[in-house]
Amino acid sequence: MSHTLFPRFISFEGIDGAGKSTHIPRLAEHLRAQGQDVLLTREPGGTALAEKLRQMILHDAMDALTEALLMFAARRDHLQTVIEPALAAGKTVLCDRFTDASFAYQGGGRGFDVQVLQTLESWVQTSPQSGGVLRQPDVTFWFDLPPAVAAQRLAAARQADRFEAQSGDFFEKVAAAYAKRAAAYPTRFLRLDAQQPPESVWQQL
Ligand code: TYD
Repeated sequence: MSHTLFPRFISFEGIDGAGKSTHIPRLAEHLRAQGQDVLLTREPGGTALAEKLRQMILHDAMDALTEALLMFAARRDHLQTVIEPALAAGKTVLCDRFTDASFAYQGGGRGFDVQVLQTLESWVQTSPQSGGVLRQPDVTFWFDLPPAVAAQRLAAARQADRFEAQSGDFFEKVAAAYAKRAAAYPTRFLRLDAQQPPESVWQQL
């Protein structure tokens, strides 16, 4: 199968409770049934080291710079040891969150310096494996949902981590930062109306 027309590095973004985790495994199965070699992964995480960092990031208290550095350290390990080799091998990579989440949560939610995030992004996502250019997803599916609706969904769900435990105001800022990011990358971002029932979101996807 030719991979030139089909996007191979696909990320999924949105605020907590937007429904990504329902649809990503389903899309993986769908693409596998079409004969694609699919790698399903997530951030923060996706490698043994990055999963250890994930535990710290989600549960240990830390300041905003430490949080951003650990997030990008996890991303570097994930890119170098999993994502770049998979892309080089011709696989389709489905990644549950990527750098846009750092701009939304650390930049928007925490109010952390976006220029520092841009510096980290360029350090971490550029390597010989990426051909010396900034590695970004080919396509980013943005599960767009009003924060108040997401909060209702999450209230019925599990124990909250450090991000999920944040206020409605935090998620308003995260959602606004996603919208800003989508406007800045209009060809890469594909918006899904995540307020629709699951079957409708699946059809959009
Ligand atoms: P999430 O995919 O929502 O995990 P789960 O579905 O298991 O809860 O991601 C975990 C949290 O990490 C989420 O609240 C968003 C946050 N996050 C950031 O703050 N910055 C980032 O760069 C990434 C990748 C995630």
